[in-house]
Amino acid sequence: MKLFVPPTVAPPARPLGILASLRAVRQNVLTILPELSFDQPIVTGRTGPARWHMVQGPEGLRRIFLDNAENYPKSEVMIRMLRPAVGSSLFTSEGADWRWQRRAIAPVFTARNVDALAPVMTQTAERASRRIGSVEGPVEMVAQMLSATFDVICEVALSGREHFDADAYGAAITQYFLTVGRASLLDFLEVPYWIPRPGELFARGCIRTMHNMVSRAIEARRADSSRSGDRDLLDHMIAASDAETGRRMNARDLLHNMQFFIVAGHETTALALSWSLFLLANAPEVQEAARAQAKGILGERAATAADLDAMPLVEQILEEAMRLYPPVGLLARNVLAADRLYDRDIEPGDTVFLNLYALHRHRQLWEEPQSFDPARFSADRSAGRDRYSYLPFGAGPRICVGANFAMMQARIILATLLARYRFTPSGAAPLPVMHMTIRPEPGVRLRADPL
Ligand code: HEM
Repeated sequence: MKLFVPPTVAPPARPLGILASLRAVRQNVLTILPELSFDQPIVTGRTGPARWHMVQGPEGLRRIFLDNAENYPKSEVMIRMLRPAVGSSLFTSEGADWRWQRRAIAPVFTARNVDALAPVMTQTAERASRRIGSVEGPVEMVAQMLSATFDVICEVALSGREHFDADAYGAAITQYFLTVGRASLLDFLEVPYWIPRPGELFARGCIRTMHNMVSRAIEARRADSSRSGDRDLLDHMIAASDAETGRRMNARDLLHNMQFFIVAGHETTALALSWSLFLLANAPEVQEAARAQAKGILGERAATAADLDAMPLVEQILEEAMRLYPPVGLLARNVLAADRLYDRDIEPGDTVFLNLYALHRHRQLWEEPQSFDPARFSADRSAGRDRYSYLPFGAGPRICVGANFAMMQARIILATLLARYRFTPSGAAPLPVMHMTIRPEPGVRLRADPL
C-alpha cells in the first residue's frame, strides 16, 4: 500500500538571519526550524546576545524532562504570557507551588474518574455527528472539532451551563489567542519581560470575560448542596486535596486551573482530531480499515468507553496524527545551572527549546518519517521503541495531567464519526502553522457523506 505523504513546510537549509527569522516566525514558527534539527539531536545558535539550543534527541529530552528536570524550569516568558489568564495554575507554577497542586490534581484524572466522564463524551460525539450531518456541502472540520471538544469540557467542567455563555466564552478565547497567545519563538529571546505589549493590554478584557463566567459557575456549584450522583471534573477539583498536607484549592486556585483546563484542553484535542480527519480523508484505505473496525463494534450507535479497546486502529490513527502534527510542537525551558547535553555545554541563562515536531519526524528515529502510517503504532512495531522518541504529552514529572482525558474523548469522537461518514478532501490541503499550537491553515475542508 502506498502511504500518504502530507504537505510540509520546507525547513531553511541554513539558519536565517535575525530579520528574516523575525519575519518568518511571526507567520509560522515551523519555517525557522533548521534542516539540521531533523538529523541531529541538538542544534545550538545565537539570536542577538541570546544563546539557545534546540533539542530533538531522545537522550537529551530524557535528561531535560526527567533526570535533571529541576534544572530546566519552564521559560519565564511563556509563564509571563499565560499568567494573566491562568495565574499560578498547575501548568504555570514551579517548585513547592507546583508540587502541592500536582499531588492534589493528579488523582482527579485517574483512569477511573475519566471513565466516569465518558458518557458525557458519548453524548457530545452524538451531537457533533448530528451537527456535521446538518451542514450542506463541504464541512470545515477544525471548527466542528473545536465545538465538539469545547462541548465536552463545558459539560464536565461547568455542567449545566446556566452560568455560562459558551458562545461569548468561545469568542473571548479566540480573541485571547489572537493577541497574547500569538507568541513567537523570538519573543522568548528578544524582549525584556517587563515591557507590556499592546496585545496584553487588549487581552485584559477577554480575560475578564472568561474569569467572570468560570467564577460564577464555580461559586454556583459550591453553593449547591443538592448535588448527588456522579461527580464531574469540577466536583473532583473542589474536593481535591494534597495527600501530604491536606491543603485544598481556594476560589482563585480553582478558577485558574479550571480556566487552564478549558482553554488548553479543548483546542489541543480538537487539533489532534482535525489532523486525523484530514489524514484519513487522503488515505482512503486506512479510513476503510478503521471504519470496518468501528462499524463492526458500533453499528448505528455512538462509541462508549467500553468499545474502545476493540478498535485499536482508531487510537493508532490519533497517535500517528499527533506524531506528524503534535498539537504542542515546541516547549521552552530556562537553564539554572551548567549542564552537558550531547557534546554541548549548556550555560545558565541559555534557552532550551524542546523540539517535539522535529523529534517526531527525525530521520535517525523514524522510517519514512513524513508518511502517514498508523500501523507504526501497532504493538508489534512499537516494541523496543525508545519512549523518548514520541512525546506528544511531554514526559517526566510535568507530563500532561489530562492525557487520559484527551485520548478518551478523541477516541470516542473519532470512532463515532468514522462509523457514520465517509470523509473525502474538498479543496486544497492545509499547511501546518505553529504559534502556540500546530494548526492546519486555512482549515480542513472535507466532504462528509453519510453511510
Ligand atoms: C491532545 C491533547 C493534549 C496535548 C497534546 C497536551 C500536551 C501537553 C504537554 C506537551 C504538556 C507538557 C508541557 C511542558 O512540559 O511544558 C502538557 C501539560 C499539561 N496539560 Fe496537556 N495536552 C492535551 C490535553 C490536555 C487536557 C484535556 C487537559 C485538561 C483537561 C490538559 C491539562 C494539562 C495540564 C494541567 C498540564 C500541566 C501539568 C504540570 O505541569 O504538572 N491537557 N500538556
